Parts: sequence; C-alpha cells; structure tokens
Amino acid sequence: MYKGVLFDLDGVIVDTAGYHFQAWKRLANSLGTDFTTIQNEQLKGVGRVESLQIILDWGEIIKTKEEQAELCIIKNEWYLELSTNMDESEILPGVKDMLDSLKENQVHIALGSASKNAVTILKAVGLFDYFESIIDGTKTTRSKPDPQTFELGAEALGLKPSECIVIEDSIKGIEAAKSGGFDTIGIGQSETLDASIITVKDLTELSYNCEDGTLTILKRT
Ligand code: BG6
Ligand code: MG
Repeated sequence: MYKGVLFDLDGVIVDTAGYHFQAWKRLANSLGTDFTTIQNEQLKGVGRVESLQIILDWGEIIKTKEEQAELCIIKNEWYLELSTNMDESEILPGVKDMLDSLKENQVHIALGSASKNAVTILKAVGLFDYFESIIDGTKTTRSKPDPQTFELGAEALGLKPSECIVIEDSIKGIEAAKSGGFDTIGIGQSETLDASIITVKDLTELSYNCEDGTLTILKRT
C-alpha cells in the first residue's frame, strides 16, 4: 500500500517524449550527426544539458560550454514549437482517471520530472492543480539516474520512499527510482525498460484501489 504517487511527466502524463526526440534529432542532424530510436532510450528522463553531452559524445563532436549553452537554447526553441500548442487531448490514456481517483481519496500526488518546461506543459493540458508538489529540472541539481528528483518529491509530500510509487517511462528514471528505494511502475516495454518491475502500455492497464489515503496497485489481468 502506498500513500503517494510520484509521476514522471514526459511519456507518462503527456505524449511529449516524441517531441523531445524530434527536437534532439533535428539538432543532431544540424551538427552533421544522428542517433537511433534505440539510442534515444538513453536520453529519456535525462536533463537537457546532460542529453546534449550524450549526443555530442555519440557524434564525437566537441563544443565549448558557451556553444553547448546556445545549442540547448536552440533545442528548446524547437521543442517548444512542437509542444506549446498542446491541449488536454495530449494527456495519455488513463492519466486523468487515475489523478481523479487519487485526489478524491487523498492519496498524495507529486511530479518528478527532469523537464524545465514541466509547469508550462501541465498548465497547457489543464493538470497543474492536481499536483501538491512539482519537482522539475529547475529544482534539481542531479539528473536521473540520480534519485534526487524522487527523493525531493517524497520529502515534499512528507513521505518515505517506501510509502510512494514512482511511474516512469525511461530507463534512467527507473534506475533513479530503484536506487532511491522506490517501487516503480514502467510505462513501455518490459524488454526495453526493466524486467523486474511491473510494466504496462499505459495507465489503463493498471488496476488500482484508493481508500482513506492509501493506494494498492496491480497490473490488470
Ligand atoms: C525529460 C525528458 O522529462 O526532460 C527528456 O524525458 C528531456 O527527454 C528532459 O531532455 C529535459 O526537458 P526540458 O524540457 O527541460 O528540455
Ligand atoms: Mg519520461
């Protein structure tokens, strides 16, 4: 039984993982390099600056700190071009129902995302008010797979890691949650993510029961 849920944003709540991929790919191509969808799994959940460094390393490209800062700005402009007109139609299946059940039953809800655009996106899709705490890329100093994002989330809710469940779509985010001592549900494919945790296609595949501030959660059979 859990008392709180820590949601990742991109690829869990909203369908923005593809927009990040498109913007990074456009940036990589503009630098004369490229990367695959398989390599992209290593970028999911990782902060903007760290993601750029990974792409530069893959392409064996060297850039100064100033140039890297400029490239991050360009990538973000391209990402925002793709994502700022989002509305609630881009909320992923099952998210709204789960947030409503949690809220009605006083189960605590926090966001644990690397994105510095998290507040903008949550407001654009109308979900901002569900979150008691938002831990995003503006509040953390260490990128996933470091557990800091989720540790700060649990702390903000006044809960221990063992009292929270993390919902994540990225390899790095699942590593972060596990190393912080959190149980985790993966969104995606078990072979890509982590065979040792419950993995579902989306939140509609989960069966959960909220009562008196507690949550039990299982994969629907
Ligand atoms: C994560 C995404 O949620 O946020 C990554 O999975 C992204 O792809 C990271 O790079 C940082 O996002 P932003 O919006 O601050 O560039
Ligand atoms: Mg994600």
